[in-house]
Amino acid sequence: MSSDKGQFQQGYQPEVQHQPLPGLEKNLSPAPQPDHLPTPDGKAELYKAAGKLEGKKAIITGGDSGIGRSTAILYAMEGADVFIAYLKEEQEDADETKRLVEAKGRKCYLHTTDLRDRANCKKLVDEAVEKFGGQIDILVNNAASQMMVNDIKDLTEDQWIDTFNTNIHPYFYLAKYVLPHMKPGASIINNASINAYIGRPDLLDYTSTKGAIVSFTRGLSNMFVSKGIRVNAVAPGPVWTPLIPATMTDDAIKQFTSPMGRPSQPSEIATCFVFLASPDSSSISGQTIHANGGVVVNG
Ligand SMILES: NC(=O)c1ccc[n+]([C@@H]2O[C@H](COP(=O)([O-])OP(=O)(O)OC[C@H]3O[C@@H](n4cnc5c(N)ncnc54)[C@H](O)[C@@H]3O)[C@@H](O)[C@H]2O)c1
Repeated sequence: MSSDKGQFQQGYQPEVQHQPLPGLEKNLSPAPQPDHLPTPDGKAELYKAAGKLEGKKAIITGGDSGIGRSTAILYAMEGADVFIAYLKEEQEDADETKRLVEAKGRKCYLHTTDLRDRANCKKLVDEAVEKFGGQIDILVNNAASQMMVNDIKDLTEDQWIDTFNTNIHPYFYLAKYVLPHMKPGASIINNASINAYIGRPDLLDYTSTKGAIVSFTRGLSNMFVSKGIRVNAVAPGPVWTPLIPATMTDDAIKQFTSPMGRPSQPSEIATCFVFLASPDSSSISGQTIHANGGVVVNG
């Protein structure tokens, strides 16, 4: 059943739909508006940039679509060049992100990869260093996947390992390889999830990786905060992206909402990635921003 509300309005519910993994934004209905934010009357307006990332260079994994795409575009609007990594099946989405970033007047480098292989994480950093002339100011660890399983007896050992290989190990590899290139003022931002805080049972493996990301963020921050490099996380609630029709059941999509009465837009999460990369958050490190539509969680 389609909602008669617009996607920025309270009471909006996305229509049930499915896509094969990894999911493409070009097939998402309705398409998110990656450079617009909701207004109080349920409409949307263009994000207002203020030169907060002028001249910065950012790596964004999973930057082809969803939260990663919106982050790439907002970073470009704030004056940064971006290097985005994505799976080869997502080339069309990546091409569109490049077009949208370039329309904001900044450079967008494309890098197809599978981040589960640590050698690929090393190649990604080497190529970004080369393209950016040795300067890396921001790493956005954003790529992830999930698959719903209701009961631990049906959650295979292989799925458990693959989810950890996809969602948390690359965050470590990329941070390890990129940090030698970072200078004071640089920032690493990891995408976690509300599920780390509420303990979602039908995404047990995913939820566990997101908890690991929160703890990784805290430990890495404590390792680097005295060196002038900040490490933070964002923990989104439900956000309308291709991951959802690619991985969630009919019932889960029907319940895909928040206390604000709608799922978030990717742009509403991307603003947190702007804040945590910019000097506006200069005294914040080791923390998590809960952009989740108003669910109060601890930690
Ligand atoms: N959409 C939500 O409701 C929601 C909620 C909480 C957290 N998140 C997090 O937001 C982040 C971005 O997801 P999204 O919702 O924007 O969906 P998305 O599908 O647009 O982005 C996920 C991206 O991860 C990348 N990816 C997955 N496996 C990969 C691999 N093996 N190698 C390289 N890249 C790979 C793909 O490029 C893909 O585009 C994820 O970390 C996700 O866990 C999403």
